[in-house]
Amino acid sequence: MKTFIIAAMTADGYIAKETNHGAYWTGKADKKRFVELTKRAGVVIMGFNTYKTLPRPLKERVNIIYSPEPIEGVETTTLPPAELLKNLEARGFKEVAICGGSTIYTMFMKAKVVDTIYLTIEPILFGSGLRLFQEDMLFHLKLVSSAESESGALLLEYTANYSGNL
Ligand SMILES: NC(=O)c1ccc[n+]([C@@H]2O[C@H](COP(=O)([O-])OP(=O)(O)OC[C@H]3O[C@@H](n4cnc5c(N)ncnc54)[C@H](OP(=O)(O)O)[C@@H]3O)[C@@H](O)[C@H]2O)c1
Repeated sequence: MKTFIIAAMTADGYIAKETNHGAYWTGKADKKRFVELTKRAGVVIMGFNTYKTLPRPLKERVNIIYSPEPIEGVETTTLPPAELLKNLEARGFKEVAICGGSTIYTMFMKAKVVDTIYLTIEPILFGSGLRLFQEDMLFHLKLVSSAESESGALLLEYTANYSGNL
């Protein structure tokens, strides 16, 4: 089961100004990559705060939302990451997209179940806000690919290495 984080970040390291700030500030290239990769996976996992910033569930993808309460039209879960991924694998999924926000990215990264991070760095500054991760961690990454969009965004792909010396 391949598990990837997909996120867009400002040049100063923020994914949002605050928890109800939607990710509408990203460029065309990031949006295109997001749609392609999440549709390829077929299943997206996100936290309730992120889900609330969307007008509707992401179409043509199974939407799984971390929420203690049921939500109409989507699946909800409270399972630890490894258990949820095991269930999805049993359902036939080969790839899963972790779509944020900060709480969910942190939970999956700390569980060491993330293989790949697709990170877009947009040429914009927020000065303060929500960081990609919100807890202390120390993991090495390997840069697999990098590309620059017409609007000056950097589209990066990293793999996570949990076995190396920290
Ligand atoms: N730039 C980007 O690429 C990007 C991508 C995604 C999101 N975002 C932004 O990130 C922000 C949201 O991030 P966030 O950290 O505030 O929230 P979040 O990660 O989207 O969601 C946190 C929510 O998930 C629930 N949750 C977490 N763990 C749970 C568990 N084990 N069981 C049940 N429910 C659980 C929490 O419920 P409880 O409160 O009940 O614990 C909380 O409501 C938004 O502004 C969004 O736009 C940016």
